Amino acid sequence: MKSEDIYILAIESSCDDTSAAVLCNDKVLSNVVANQDIHTKYGGVVPELASRAHQQNIVPVVHQALRQANIDKKQLKAIAFTQGPGLMGSLLVGTSFAKGFAQGLQIPLLAINHMQAHILAHFIDEDSQEKPEFPFLAMTISGGHTQIVQVNSYFDMIVIGETIDDAIGEAFDKSAKILGLPYPGGPFIDKNAALGNPKAFQFPRPKVADLNFSFSGLKTAVLYFIQKNVAENPDFIKENMNDICASLQYTIIGIVIDKLKKATKSTGINRIAIGGGVSANSGIRKALQEGEQKFGWKTYIPKFEYTTDNAAMIGIVGYLKYLEKDFSNVQATANPRFKI
Ligand code: KG4
Ligand code: ZN
Repeated sequence: MKSEDIYILAIESSCDDTSAAVLCNDKVLSNVVANQDIHTKYGGVVPELASRAHQQNIVPVVHQALRQANIDKKQLKAIAFTQGPGLMGSLLVGTSFAKGFAQGLQIPLLAINHMQAHILAHFIDEDSQEKPEFPFLAMTISGGHTQIVQVNSYFDMIVIGETIDDAIGEAFDKSAKILGLPYPGGPFIDKNAALGNPKAFQFPRPKVADLNFSFSGLKTAVLYFIQKNVAENPDFIKENMNDICASLQYTIIGIVIDKLKKATKSTGINRIAIGGGVSANSGIRKALQEGEQKFGWKTYIPKFEYTTDNAAMIGIVGYLKYLEKDFSNVQATANPRFKI
């Protein structure tokens, strides 16, 4: 251990995953995530249940993160926590815990924006991970977010496009629900799509100005399409599952790539870094890689465990803020609508 090493404990509890991580400078020593299976049977996140599960999980998750990192809590230099955006009841659990723990240890607090964290996860020091050069475009796509951000430096970020209604993950998950697939349905659509014909059916592409997105119409289009076809053939879904998934995924990929083409053109920036759970989608990954040859893009896809909600990404922002001495205090409150 070098004396200048900075150990940070990070806590993430914005939605339905309780996570704690320990970083030594920009390296991750542990990154523990407790998922909440309780929501599966409701087909979506139930905020009150999420908050209660965070309360149950937070102490064991932090304990495990410290143990895996093999450090004592007295070595910690600061505690980083997700201030927002997210669900109020969920954020409150992490925020309160972080404040209490920091006060007990007499160390500073670092209040972190969850959306910045999805982007700065690219700066975690990992052999397998290349760090993007500034400026770059970050596309954060998950069950709760869909944003394109121009990143000029660590803390100079401008949102240049975002969804005006549903997030991209909701388009996957809500369509999957209509098809009778389990929650969250994104990975099931992805898996089925690999076996289907992407041109079998046509779904409408939303017409949204500029770099913004809209996904609520797509879900409705899928609903009407299924209702109409099932009325004619009750086995329609079963007989066409792979083709429906492939066609739907093809439509979503088309929307994403179209917006990225526009964004690279209007900003003149061709470096694209993605994050969020939907960046696991194999079709989106393939389309981005193809974009390197087709459009001259340079794309960055972080290690999977840093794309979904996790505390390591909160920790890297905490470390960068620590270097700038940008500390928070006990008055900091959870902010469900915290903007970048
Ligand atoms: O980042 P995340 O774990 O949590 C938040 O929503 O913040 O993202 C979860 C979302 C869900 O909507 C899930 O269906 C989607 O990511 N997802 C996928 C895939 N894997 C996860 N969507 C499409 N294809 C996938 N392979
Ligand atoms: Zn997230």
